[in-house]
Amino acid sequence: MAFDLVLFGGTGDLTWRKLMPALFQAWRHGKLPEGGRILAVARDERSDDEYRRYIHERFAAVEEAKQPTETEFAQFASLLHYRRMDLSQPEHYAGLKGWLDARGAETVVLFLATAPNLFPVVVEQLGRAGLNGPHVRLVLEKPLGHDLKSAREINRVVASAFREEQALRIDHYLGKAPVQNLMALRFGNALFEPLWRRDSIASIQITLAETIGVGTRGDFYDRTGALRDMVQNHALQLLTMIAMEPPPTSDADAIRDEKLKVLKSLKPFTPETVLRDVVRGQYRSGAAEGQAVLGYLDEQKVPPDSRTETFVALRTEIQNWRWAGVPFYLRTGKRLAARDAQIVVNFRQVPHSIFSGSGPANKLVIKLQPEDGLALHMLAHKGGRSSGGGPELLSAVSLDLDFDRAFATERVGGYERLLMDAIAGRLNLFVRSDEQEQAWNWVEPILEAWKNDSSPPRPYASGSWGPAAASALIARDGCVWAEEA
Ligand code: BG6
Repeated sequence: MAFDLVLFGGTGDLTWRKLMPALFQAWRHGKLPEGGRILAVARDERSDDEYRRYIHERFAAVEEAKQPTETEFAQFASLLHYRRMDLSQPEHYAGLKGWLDARGAETVVLFLATAPNLFPVVVEQLGRAGLNGPHVRLVLEKPLGHDLKSAREINRVVASAFREEQALRIDHYLGKAPVQNLMALRFGNALFEPLWRRDSIASIQITLAETIGVGTRGDFYDRTGALRDMVQNHALQLLTMIAMEPPPTSDADAIRDEKLKVLKSLKPFTPETVLRDVVRGQYRSGAAEGQAVLGYLDEQKVPPDSRTETFVALRTEIQNWRWAGVPFYLRTGKRLAARDAQIVVNFRQVPHSIFSGSGPANKLVIKLQPEDGLALHMLAHKGGRSSGGGPELLSAVSLDLDFDRAFATERVGGYERLLMDAIAGRLNLFVRSDEQEQAWNWVEPILEAWKNDSSPPRPYASGSWGPAAASALIARDGCVWAEEA
């Protein structure tokens, strides 16, 4: 299947850090369909060869396992092309159309990896130039909007030129193998689904913890904050996959319909519940992975009086028959103690114990990164006899699965998977506009309440697990975060 992939923002960070390495890996794994061309588009003048050199140099900054050898790069580079475009000029889009039409590939994927404020202009121009035929797919990178209003505006512009099934909104977490595995775990096994409800589950925790700070992205991050950067998209997408009803089929819309229902069932926040159930924090100096690091307010391009949150912990509920009353705790932050993305499903205690003490309840830990695995925590009998003939004492044991090990050769990176899906037209792992708007709709009262609240985010030391208030939030329900258990 011949395809043309056009990368708008072809010299930008996302392109060389993530997209090119992912495309190279796909090529190396023999997954990139034959006859493909990759066209990078950016403002400055350069030839194809100059662009190839530009990308070649940048591969040095990519993790070693993903770096091409000279021979590999020479072959991969023959797919790369470059075109200068001023994105405000209609004739430049006409030129691009001419370039694409001259070959008439079966599939054209237009990937917007530019600054998001350019999306409306580019999309409008693509429509006017007729670069929106049925064989064209448009890929939109996050952030898609800053709030519900701006997200709707982007969706309106996109819908005026493209049909919904042509618009692929990326949430790169959905491309991660362990995240796709959530569906397999729930709907490919008979074991969990009967227990996957309020009768057996006491609470669910989703943690997306990072050790990195904001790095060089201070200006972007300061306008964004953790709620918009991680909760509105990645954390909520994970929550929908954990909580959704079984879809009737694996079709993209069947899955997305169920995810949307979860988002619509999330308990809406009020100004009072935001104060009670949402904790925001901001990192101070401390240590990250053994190195002394600056506090957020001392980071480059961050105003010294910034009130932007770098940490959020919140408690919510899903108002439906399956989940009523079960607390869902979400937590994400930068400069935390460990890089750790995981979901913890805490089961209820046995209704009556014949053993000594109650012991910890069963717990299923779904590890998303850095490890990809599953641990089921249970109680078991160690053997031997208890002293004095009283009730037996049970010991905690866990059943561990390591998917990195089990599927070592088959695991592909998130962007690799998403790019290949975009080229093949598989929409399952892309976010539909109504899901995205509903997610904004749910976070909006939090943003609103923070705007009207003069108190600053709670400070926490880099290298800690966030402000103490996050532990207090969950302790109110008699729970503790996974690392405190
Ligand atoms: C991005 C956020 O969407 O996800 C970043 O903008 C964050 O701030 C990143 O660091 C985390 O992704 P990953 O794949 O490293 O967990």
